[in-house]
Amino acid sequence: MRLILLGPPGAGKGTQAKRLVEQHGVPQLSTGDMLRSAVANQTDVGKRAKSIMDAGELVPDEVVNQIVSDRIEEPDCANGFILDGFPRTLKQADALAEILEGKGLNLDRVVEMQVDDDALVHRITGRFTCKSCGALYHETDMPPQKEGVCDVCGSTEFVRREDDNEQTVRKRLRAYYKDTSPLIGYYHAKGSLARVDGMKEIDTVTRSIEAAIKG
Ligand code: AP5
Ligand code: ZN
Repeated sequence: MRLILLGPPGAGKGTQAKRLVEQHGVPQLSTGDMLRSAVANQTDVGKRAKSIMDAGELVPDEVVNQIVSDRIEEPDCANGFILDGFPRTLKQADALAEILEGKGLNLDRVVEMQVDDDALVHRITGRFTCKSCGALYHETDMPPQKEGVCDVCGSTEFVRREDDNEQTVRKRLRAYYKDTSPLIGYYHAKGSLARVDGMKEIDTVTRSIEAAIKG
C-alpha cells in the first residue's frame, strides 16, 4: 500500500500513520521526524533545516526530495509506505511522481484530513510526546492515564517540539494554505484524493481512512 496523508499541522497525520503501520505492516515516512532526527544528529541537512523549522517555514524542496528518494530505496519500503508530511509543495508532488514512475509504481490513495484552524492550534499547543517511545499525548484531551508516566513504556520523561507554540503554529498554517493546499486539486485531478473528517474521534478517523483505502 502506498498512501499519502495530507493535512495541516495537527490534523492527526502522525497519530493515524502510527495506527496504519500496525494494521498494514508498511513503514511511516514522516519528513518532519526525519528532519528532526537530522537536527538532533547535527548533520549538514539538520544544520540547514533547524532555523527554518523553528520559524515554521518549509525546508527547501531539493533537500526534502533527496531525503524521501533515499528513504524509499530502503528494503522496508518494498511493499509500500505511508507518507506523513510529504509532499508539501507541487514541486515535491512532481518529484514523488517521478520517483514512483521510475519504479513502475502507483499511489493507492491520497487522504486529506480536514480539521478547523482553532482545533489545530488547540491540539498542537497542548501536544507532548514520550521521550523514549514517541507516544503522543495532549495535556487536556489525552493525558497519560497515570500523571507523568507514559502509558506505553513507563518512562517519566516527556518532550515538546520547539515549533509547537501558537505563533509558530500560525506560521505553519499559513505555509500549509499557501504551498500545500494546492495539492488537494492536484490529486483530485488524478482521481486519487479521498477526504476524511479529521474533527471526529481518533478511532472514527481511523475507520474513515481504512474505508477510503478500500475505496
Ligand atoms: P511535521 O513534523 O510534518 O509537522 P506538521 O505537518 O506541522 O504536522 P504535525 O506533526 O504537527 O501534526 P500531525 O498532523 O502529525 O498531528 P498529530 O498526529 O501529531 O513538520 C514539521 C516541520 O518540518 C515543518 O514545519 C517544516 O519546517 C518541516 N518539514 C516537514 N516536512 C516537510 C516537507 N515535506 N517539505 C518542507 N518542509 C518540511 O496530532 C496533533 C495532536 O492532536 C496530538 O496531541 C494528538 O494527540 C491530537 N489528535 C490527533 N488526532 C486527534 C483527533 N482526531 N481528535 C483530537 N485530538 C487529536
Ligand atoms: Zn513511552
